Amino acid sequence: MEDRLVSNDIELGEINFEQSLRPKTLRQYIGQDKVKKNLEVFIEAAKLREETLDHVLLYGPPGLGKTTLAAVIANEMGVQLRTTSGPAIERPGDLAAVLTALEPGDVLFIDEIHRLQRSIEEVLYPAMEDFCLDILIGKGPSARSVRLDLPPFTLVGATTRAGSLSAPLRDRFGVLSRLEYYEEAQLQDIVQRTSEILETEITEEAAGEIARRSRGTPRIANRLLRRVRDFAQVRGDGMVTTQLTIDALNLLQVDSVGLDHIDHKLLRAIIERFRGGPVGLDTIAASIGEESHTIEDVYEPYLLQIGFLQRTPRGRMVTDLVYRHLGMEIPKEE
Ligand SMILES: Nc1ncnc2c1ncn2[C@@H]1O[C@H](COP(=O)(O)OP(=O)(O)O)[C@@H](O)[C@H]1O
Ligand SMILES: [Mg+2]
Repeated sequence: MEDRLVSNDIELGEINFEQSLRPKTLRQYIGQDKVKKNLEVFIEAAKLREETLDHVLLYGPPGLGKTTLAAVIANEMGVQLRTTSGPAIERPGDLAAVLTALEPGDVLFIDEIHRLQRSIEEVLYPAMEDFCLDILIGKGPSARSVRLDLPPFTLVGATTRAGSLSAPLRDRFGVLSRLEYYEEAQLQDIVQRTSEILETEITEEAAGEIARRSRGTPRIANRLLRRVRDFAQVRGDGMVTTQLTIDALNLLQVDSVGLDHIDHKLLRAIIERFRGGPVGLDTIAASIGEESHTIEDVYEPYLLQIGFLQRTPRGRMVTDLVYRHLGMEIPKEE
């Protein structure tokens, strides 16, 4: 797999950049209105009762704001955020150490929670349910289990794959929130907000242009803005205008709806080699020299989302939208 400007995964070089752009309050957090309204009520109620917030599971594609929202929740509750991730917890003892270090009310954020091992999940169940920890002391016949009390805390779990979460774990969350791809108008607001933070002047229309090419994903919107801003500084007077944005993004090979050369290669292969489909995933993969699961997990979701691809029982099919977008003639039914 190659690096893509429109990848929704975070890149190594942009960790600090993203950190500096994270909204801190629900008010600053743009879009996801349904999720926000729910959380607002639960947070308010928990504060009134002086209790911890129920455990929250955030799920949805990368780059939509799960990590950001976890920090917002802690901030709105006025408590500390402790962060770890599924793959970082290797042994039950690692999780026990994290849990016993919590202070009352803390938010414990576990990113990629679907990657927790089963033996570790089992430590989490009594912790989530009764705020306690069962630990085994000694070995062999003299071993005994001791119950340790934990401070009350809120677990916020994030995952891109809610389906891979075990049912017993999923059932222990009181709040399940699914983050959706963002509308263009919301992405435009995000671009405007980021421009202000970066102290970059941008026209409304240019912000809209970036929004349209951001694949419904704030992470991509911010990344594209950063690249366009570089262009504006080198080629212009620093002001991000519409024409400059279009020129820059065309040069960077991000088209008018956010597709790059890999998307084009995939769509053209289906059209030119398989008459637009239906064609099986493995056949497409072999024909463009990619892994099937990469197509399924990385390339396909956005194409499905915007209705360019369809999944049928007999395989993938391109829709008429693709022919129109690529300026090709729509084939007649045979
Ligand atoms: N609702 C939002 N409003 C403003 N910026 C957002 C929003 N959601 C995400 N972002 C920005 O997008 C970037 C990626 O968000 P992040 O929380 O890391 O996504 P995820 O954890 O879902 O992969 C962050 O830099 C954040 O500032
Ligand atoms: Mg994240």
